[in-house]
Amino acid sequence: MRFRSRLVVNLDHFKNNIKQIRKISPGAQILCMVKADAYGHGMIPIARYAMTELGIKEFGCATLSEAVKLREELNELEFDIYVFSDIQLELLENADIYLKRRIIPVISNVSELDYILHTTEFKYFPICLKFNTGMNRLGLDPKDTSLIVNKLKQHHRTSVHHLISHYANASSEMESHPVNILQRKRFSEIKKFFRDSGITLERTSQSNSGTIEQKVGLPEEGDDTHVRPGLMLYGPSSLSAEMKSAFLGQLVSTLETYILRVFEVNKGDVVGYNSTPCPEDGVIAILAIGYGDGFFNRYSGAHLYHKGFEGVIIGRVSMDMTHVFFPKESVNVIKAHEIFTIWGQQEGDLLKFCNETKIIPYEVFCALLPRVPRVYRLN
Ligand SMILES: Cc1ncc(COP(=O)(O)O)c(C=O)c1O
Repeated sequence: MRFRSRLVVNLDHFKNNIKQIRKISPGAQILCMVKADAYGHGMIPIARYAMTELGIKEFGCATLSEAVKLREELNELEFDIYVFSDIQLELLENADIYLKRRIIPVISNVSELDYILHTTEFKYFPICLKFNTGMNRLGLDPKDTSLIVNKLKQHHRTSVHHLISHYANASSEMESHPVNILQRKRFSEIKKFFRDSGITLERTSQSNSGTIEQKVGLPEEGDDTHVRPGLMLYGPSSLSAEMKSAFLGQLVSTLETYILRVFEVNKGDVVGYNSTPCPEDGVIAILAIGYGDGFFNRYSGAHLYHKGFEGVIIGRVSMDMTHVFFPKESVNVIKAHEIFTIWGQQEGDLLKFCNETKIIPYEVFCALLPRVPRVYRLN
């Protein structure tokens, strides 16, 4: 059997990206964000490689079930897992899961903190607090800093395992975007308040990809111990095109499919659902990928490349197939059964695709469904 479509994941490129992050942020520990199946790249193989080959010891998930999967499937390895958003601490049965599987919930409201402080079993459990410094999503209110410090002291907790904040505009200039400036200032003030109150901050972090690329929140320029990269692990920069990045990422994935059928068309011939007319004489290649693979209808109109020819996704993307229109010069050159690369090798292809479709790489990666097998390669 031949594959329909597959995502080839190059672990050497992943290794290069980690090397780059270490170079940009010397002295920082890396907390790898592997939520949403490692941004579509496969959480278990990525985390296993990061641990066994690259010495990464901390990972970030979004949900408790992702964290449980990571712990269960990599049970033989020692590492820390954080659950960042859907921690479900209000469900009593989850306390046991956190405790027994050594999973750290990221606390982002006072009632969750109260629960941890008042539950005897959590007495010696690491406390991780996330402050909302301006993103206005999840997070403790900076106005409650003093209240929170008092609560910790009342329960004889003199240290916080990890204090976290997250930026809303990391792809914009850290030095000039007003919300970035405000968030940075607030986080510094919160850290200072904790320390001045005698609470030890064992770990602190504020930097996701865009922030790391701008060299902000690193041990050498402040006092943060950790960085929390997500997107950059997988290659793309998250800075806007005109900004300068310190990061030379390599795209980790190549999305391959193959050509099911090729046929010539005349101007006005119609193709696919809704009968879209061809703009001129040319060639149609039918790709073995569609929205049933997570390859959206919204990609219609984007350009794809094959054997030096530029094609365009024409008409409606079907569940299992996509029509690509090529110029007539490609007749007898583009052939059925050839492997067709949608993105890969050069990062430019993916970024161009994202620019054209106005869909961010985060979403393009995460959209790919399990029907597209992930295949792992080392050079
Ligand atoms: C709390 C937190 N830290 C880090 C990241 C990683 O962000 P990025 O993928 O932009 O590096 C995320 C992702 O959304 C996040 O929610």
